[in-house]
Amino acid sequence: MKPTTAPPQTYRVKSFGCQMNVYDGERMGELLAERGITPAPEGEEADLVILNTCHIREKAAEKVYSDIGRLVKAGAEAGKQPLIAVAGCVAQAEGEEIMARAPAVSIVVGPQAYHRLPEMLDKAALGERATDTDMPAIAKFDALPARRKRGPSAFLTVQEGCDKFCTYCVVPYTRGAEISRPFSHLVAEARKLVEAGAKEITLLGQNVNAWAGEDDNGRRVGLGGLIRTLAGIDGLARIRYTTSHPNDMDDDLIAAHGEVAKLMPYLHLPVQAGNDRILKAMNRQHTAESYLRLIERFRAMRPDIALSGDFIVGFPGETEAEFADTLSIVDEVRYAACFSFKYSPRPGTPAATMDGQIAPEVMDERLQRLQQRIGHHQYAFNQASVGKRCDVLVERTGRHPGQWLGKSPWLQSVWFEGDYAVGDLVEVKLAEAGPNSLRGLVTHV
Ligand code: 5AD
Ligand code: SF4
Repeated sequence: MKPTTAPPQTYRVKSFGCQMNVYDGERMGELLAERGITPAPEGEEADLVILNTCHIREKAAEKVYSDIGRLVKAGAEAGKQPLIAVAGCVAQAEGEEIMARAPAVSIVVGPQAYHRLPEMLDKAALGERATDTDMPAIAKFDALPARRKRGPSAFLTVQEGCDKFCTYCVVPYTRGAEISRPFSHLVAEARKLVEAGAKEITLLGQNVNAWAGEDDNGRRVGLGGLIRTLAGIDGLARIRYTTSHPNDMDDDLIAAHGEVAKLMPYLHLPVQAGNDRILKAMNRQHTAESYLRLIERFRAMRPDIALSGDFIVGFPGETEAEFADTLSIVDEVRYAACFSFKYSPRPGTPAATMDGQIAPEVMDERLQRLQQRIGHHQYAFNQASVGKRCDVLVERTGRHPGQWLGKSPWLQSVWFEGDYAVGDLVEVKLAEAGPNSLRGLVTHV
């Protein structure tokens, strides 16, 4: 069955991977809304399905092909094929191959080109297939429509791309070179988000702390300066940012953690491994020691800061002793939360062809040990929070009636009871800690 050529009326975006993909997915939705295309109601097939893919690890491309197969099968059963678009980093990396291998796909659009989705839909309506993997990053943002109403916590991409070329990572190839969006555009978008109901904004970038721009007075500012300006927006209660690279931290951003009350006491600062030979082979351009010194500076500025990180186990050539250094750095930092992954060779990256690729069962075993250490520190961090008073930003209802779930300043999940609504900032006393969440008690009515 050929895909329908009637213009789609409903859409569904399936976003995989990082928060920037979530942001991109929202913005694609806003573009479609301008054309009168609305989200498909829950449980109904959409006329247009966008697979917003991630290429960072594992069998990303295979996952896309099996998703496409599933959509085609569901379409055959429903007697109507959806229009299928593949977006995101797999589209960027393997667009041509997707077009060749998957005739059901009408549109392939890279992460820097999705502002052209409407024109691509016009082509699709004529029965033509369209691919766009250009990288005009700033042009994309200029072409996107205004922000729409979302939940209390919103994402705002301030920086995209990466020039670091860690040897395991595809991002510099799929997202392109580092670019910073202009200061005035970001302040305007943040205001729009707050007008639309956002209480919290998380600034996003693959190297968010490499963001640089000129403020309204023509002064060069870094992320710290941008955060200080955004903190002046009435109605905005919380600011976060992610993901940072240790080498892009500057004094002003560190100082902002001690000075800007709206900047939450949380820092996601990946180190990836605890051993200097491995860090060098990864081309991280920092050592375990320089990372630990940086952490100390944040702690001096904001003693209660919660730290999180990313780790890769089983990088090519990693010995047992080198892996033990990763466990040691986890113990030394005492992270509040972490993401940890088995090394996954990415086509076209230098590490994929390095000697000493590690056997899967060794990686499994190391990951398990690492996650156990991480879990121990996360639980300890939660337990140490018991007794503190803090605001919780309500994000959704809990499992039982009258229960609410939200985030503490330290990004912990906190549940509590009472008569509230999504978007409320509720002061609670943290009363009980579990490994993954805490119970709060409301301390005022
Ligand atoms: N294999 C495993 N993990 C990876 N990451 C990036 N590339 C790879 C890879 N090839 C992890 C890093 C990064 C996070 C977003 O994903 O830890 O910080
Ligand atoms: Fe990938 Fe390294 Fe860039 Fe992070 S800093 S996006 S891990 S290349």
